[in-house]
Amino acid sequence: MNILVLDGDGIGPEVNNAARRVLEAVGQKAGIQWNFENALFGGASLDVHNVPITDEVIQKAIASDAVLMGACGGPKWDDVAPELRPERGLLKIRKEMGVFANLRPAKFYSCLDGTGPLRPELTAGADFIIVRELNSGIYFGEPRGIKEDGSEGFNTMRYTKEEVERIARVGFELARNRKAKLTSVDKANVLEVMRMWRNTVIDLHKREYSDIELEHNYVDAYAMHLVTRPQDAQVVITGNMFGDILSDLAAALTGSLGMLPSASLGEGAAIYEPVHGSAPDIAGQDKANPIAAILSAAMLLESTAKRNDLADAVRTAVDAALNDGLRTGDIYQKGAEGTKLVGTTEMTDAILKHLESALA
Ligand code: NAD
Ligand code: IPM
Ligand code: MN
Repeated sequence: MNILVLDGDGIGPEVNNAARRVLEAVGQKAGIQWNFENALFGGASLDVHNVPITDEVIQKAIASDAVLMGACGGPKWDDVAPELRPERGLLKIRKEMGVFANLRPAKFYSCLDGTGPLRPELTAGADFIIVRELNSGIYFGEPRGIKEDGSEGFNTMRYTKEEVERIARVGFELARNRKAKLTSVDKANVLEVMRMWRNTVIDLHKREYSDIELEHNYVDAYAMHLVTRPQDAQVVITGNMFGDILSDLAAALTGSLGMLPSASLGEGAAIYEPVHGSAPDIAGQDKANPIAAILSAAMLLESTAKRNDLADAVRTAVDAALNDGLRTGDIYQKGAEGTKLVGTTEMTDAILKHLESALA
């Protein structure tokens, strides 16, 4: 399988390296031949090519089986022109690859209960997935810009019925597989585009998915529900910007942003990347939590390699390393019994060791 590796900036290279080591180990055991190719992305590309991603790299991504992505951006590039920002490179590759469905599972590990801001009894066993629309909405709507004299800035939230239907379909299918309810999160009380979103979800539900329980929530109230009763969340569909915000919130509830993986799926090659960013504050110090990236590799094994068994082995190995008490700084609590503060490399080594037994 051809995997395009886009490390990006900050902790991107460190956590992507961990994910790649996991894929290599799995490949060796299971006889999967990975052909990894690295390319520049984000600030790293901007420094060399004056653009955050080149068309050549995008073509390579489209022609690959999957993209393993780190993260992009950082203070060094915060003041470049908006259209050259590293983050624009990310939006461009997502759009051109047509990966419209961004799956962001939030699983709460019992050994981390109490690590996040909530009382353990509120998070115990919580396990939900945010399905974020990734190719449209306010991130891409036209017109957008800042008036030349700087007096006004504007963006446009737009969705077509087709775009809403295709993301809702992904959500309904997931809900059906998980025997779960579907929650659609919108702002239909204020925004016309979201009124259309809600009506479209209701229509599709009536036509094709009436066996599935469907509920609607406004995004402000839903943010509150996620914090007060995360155990109720199951499969959640939402638009591009709301999904971005709610997924960082979900990550924080699990203990850390360093825990949440994602898969961005469309018709062709997919992108696998952690939910977190380039974490410039800890970059290059062997401090980053590699688990979000490693669990993204597990999603690659599941969705691209179609090997649920191997994905489960990776997840088992992550569970085991956490159950051993190993903690990177973001999930470490001083004085917590039976835990040990480790760096990116030591955490990855431990996961790889457990992976060997999980695959045996
Ligand atoms: P961030 O996610 O990089 O970091 C937020 C906080 O979480 C920081 O304190 C960081 O140290 C911590 N953190 C994040 N990942 C971690 C990990 N794996 N282990 C331990 N701690 C971790 O968000 P930010 O600081 O708002 O953004 C930094 C840059 O990253 C910005 O340029 C932003 O645009 C970019 N960004 C990129 C992506 C992406 O490429 N997919 C995603 C989000 C943000
Ligand atoms: C994410 C990030 C990106 C987004 C940024 C960096 C463009 O926050 O993947 O969650 O908003 O989609
Ligand atoms: Mn985000």
